[in-house]
Amino acid sequence: MDIVRTVAEVRTAVAAARKAGRAIGFVPTMGALHAGHISLVDAAKADGTFVVVSIYVNPTQFGPNEDFTQYPRTFDADSAACRAAGVDLIFAPTNAEMYPPGDQSRVRPGPLAEPLCGAFRPGHFEGVCTVVAKLFGIVQPDIAYFGRKDFQQARVIEQMVDDLRMPVRIATCPIVREPDGLAMSSRNARLTPSDRARSLCLYQALCIARDRLGAGETSTGRIVAAMRAHIAAHADIKVDYLSLVDPRTLESATLPAPRVLVAGAIRVGDVRLIDNLTVGIDG
Ligand code: PAJ
Repeated sequence: MDIVRTVAEVRTAVAAARKAGRAIGFVPTMGALHAGHISLVDAAKADGTFVVVSIYVNPTQFGPNEDFTQYPRTFDADSAACRAAGVDLIFAPTNAEMYPPGDQSRVRPGPLAEPLCGAFRPGHFEGVCTVVAKLFGIVQPDIAYFGRKDFQQARVIEQMVDDLRMPVRIATCPIVREPDGLAMSSRNARLTPSDRARSLCLYQALCIARDRLGAGETSTGRIVAAMRAHIAAHADIKVDYLSLVDPRTLESATLPAPRVLVAGAIRVGDVRLIDNLTVGIDG
């Protein structure tokens, strides 16, 4: 496994892999890798690709009052995990490599970036689209792998790739959870033990919604009220949103619907956590 820090080195390694007849699989990350990230690597390996993982905490997707500086950075453990998972190349650029002096272009997403997290993190998805577009331009992958943990992000990227006619296929992968159901997240490392215990109420609230939908409830208001009531029973948790939306458009769901995305974001102390469940006709 090679670890490179420059665009030129990525291009050389990727060109060699292509010459050897390999398709390029790409897993963009911000590091602090856990089993959720590794599941994306596994998917890329299962497709037989030459697997490139980027590790880069992208400043342009963090708001001024967000956790860019506190975001966990664990490069040595990350590279060991990548090696163990069979990654072929790690790209870990500097800020100067990604945003050199004079850099000025940005990729502005459309309405898919407005609801849910977009409403609480102005500019976030513009930062995501910009860095992912740059990374796609650098790595030129055939397939890029995204987790449904960040469901809206994956939809926004799918739309960007369609709109900008980027020659890359987007593959989305299921959410990997801790044994008790908490969605794995790099930010979980920032939770105190008692906050970690409280955090589970988000997943429990999503399950309440899933069960109510399964039982035939057709009022989104009643479902969201039940979710809020569950979370309100846990002190110190601020809800950013709890929403039932159409998984394609991310607009408010009209029930009954064949597929509903139940999504939520909470703040536990100063840690922001997101999670979601897609509920189909068959529950
Ligand atoms: P990061 O939060 O590191 O996530 C990298 C990828 O891992 C994303 O596609 C995310 O959805 C996926 N992922 C995270 N937790 C997961 C889980 N529990 N199960 C399955 N997949 C999971 O998302 C980003 O970084 C950044 O916004 C990035 C796309 C790299 C752009 O900077």
